[in-house]
Amino acid sequence: VVVKAETGGVNSINPDIRKNEEKVVDSVLVNELSKPLTPYCRCWRSGTFPLCDGSHVKHNKATGDNVGPLLVKK
Ligand code: FES
Repeated sequence: VVVKAETGGVNSINPDIRKNEEKVVDSVLVNELSKPLTPYCRCWRSGTFPLCDGSHVKHNKATGDNVGPLLVKK
């Protein structure tokens, strides 16, 4: 069952990623990663979510925040 999540709430951390899902959950098999080091987004601004595309840099400059990716090593 897919339930449209409420958007734009005061406490919302996710601006627009997969808002048609009740909860955004991803799973990864580490031994199937193609690279020895894979960055995963924790800022919810990546255009390649769940992978980091560097969008956290722009977000941090605009807001003074200090978020960055989770680095998963193979
Ligand atoms: Fe979100 Fe890098 S783009 S942590």
